[in-house]
Amino acid sequence: MTTTTTPAASPAKRAAISLVLTVAVTLAAAVILGEGAYLWIKAAHVIAIISWMAGMLYLPRLFIYHCDAEKGSVQSETFKVMERRLLTIILNPAMVIAWGLGLWLAWIGQFYSSPWFIAKLALVLALSAVHGYFSAAVRAFNEDRNDKSPRHWRIVNEIPTVLMIGIVILVIVKPF
Ligand code: HEM
Repeated sequence: MTTTTTPAASPAKRAAISLVLTVAVTLAAAVILGEGAYLWIKAAHVIAIISWMAGMLYLPRLFIYHCDAEKGSVQSETFKVMERRLLTIILNPAMVIAWGLGLWLAWIGQFYSSPWFIAKLALVLALSAVHGYFSAAVRAFNEDRNDKSPRHWRIVNEIPTVLMIGIVILVIVKPF
């Protein structure tokens, strides 16, 4: 007798499904609740931010280990797959959703001229630039032309953390 087993969805696939569901539920809430949707959109924004930040903190750690793997080795090829998937399935969609919902919140809340929001936007732009830098690094590692040291990636690893702390303080404390 043969038994067929359905393979479980990979973590990356599950994360992508969660993100799509988040957007779908948010849009449905916006249509059904009208103005009351603000908190739903904010909840979805925070969910997207958690996914984005998880990737932004994990990817440079993968780069650190990848630097130590010999080019062409099985380990190096495995890191390439992990980095590509993390970037394309989690980081990129999470960033797009975070931006879309964040700008939507700012529009509903009329925050565009608030100093705290302009400062937050500047830090989020810096975070997005770091995202672009990581994206270029994934391509470089993929083509075996990374020329940076593990120390470089250890230092770069701290930048998203510092930006995240500043962004969260600005949006929650709204100091100015
Ligand atoms: C991508 C561009 C982003 C835009 C345009 C944006 C915009 C906004 C806006 C307008 C709010 C609503 C604020 C309120 O209701 O008082 C909000 C909430 C929030 N954002 Fe963002 N955001 C962005 C990215 C981020 C990032 C990168 C983080 C964290 C690293 C973050 C963390 C939060 C948190 C924690 C809240 C909830 C604050 C609260 O309810 O008091 N956002 N965001």
